[in-house]
Amino acid sequence: MVQSIGTKKIKCAVLISGTGSNLKSLIQFSKKKNSPISIELIISDNFKSKGLQLGKIYKISNKVFNFKKKIVAEKKMIYEMKNKKIKLICLAGFMKILSKEFIKNFKGKILNIHPSLLPKYKGLNTHQRAILNKEKYSGCTVHFVNSKLDSGKIILQKKVRISNSDTAKSLAKKILSQEHKLYPKAIRKILNL
Ligand code: GAR
Repeated sequence: MVQSIGTKKIKCAVLISGTGSNLKSLIQFSKKKNSPISIELIISDNFKSKGLQLGKIYKISNKVFNFKKKIVAEKKMIYEMKNKKIKLICLAGFMKILSKEFIKNFKGKILNIHPSLLPKYKGLNTHQRAILNKEKYSGCTVHFVNSKLDSGKIILQKKVRISNSDTAKSLAKKILSQEHKLYPKAIRKILNL
C-alpha cells in the first residue's frame, strides 16, 4: 500500500518507452501546489524515447537501461529506486514486461495505464482490435501491476465513444487525452485524497 504521510510528497519514478505524453501530464500534476507526488526519476528502456527530453527540461534524473539484459536492467532499476527512496512507480507507455521478482520488490506500488477498458483488449494494438470488433466504446484504465499482463486490480477507468469514422489513430488520440486526466485522478484515489 502507498501511504501519504502529512505534507511529505510521495517520491515517484515514471517508466517510459516512447513519447512520454503521460509522463508530461504526471510532471505537470506533480508541479501543482497541492500535489501529493514528486517525480524523482524517469527510466526508459529506449535511448530514443522522446520523453527523456522532459527529464532534461524539468531537471529530473533519467536513466536508460537495456532490457536485452533484463535481469541486469531490473537489478540496476531496483538499486536506483531504493537509492532515491521511490515509493510509487508509474508505468506510462512502458512497453516491457517486468519480471515477477521485480514486481515483488514493489508490491502494491506499481501502477500502469493501459489504452482500453480492461479486462478487454489486454496487450498491444488495442484500438485496432476494438474498432474491428465494432465496439461502441473503448477507453483507458489505470491499474495496479501484478505478475499477469494488464491484469492487476483496476483503480479507475474512463470510457471513450468510438465513432463510425474513427481510425486506430484518431481513437488513440482521443483516448490519450483522457489518459492524461485519468492517471493523476487514479493516484489521488490510491492515496485517498
Ligand atoms: C499510451 O496510450 C499508453 O496507454 C500506452 O502507450 C501510450 C503511451 O503514450 N501504453 C500501453 O499500451 C501499455 N501496454 P505516451 O508515451 O505519450 O504516454
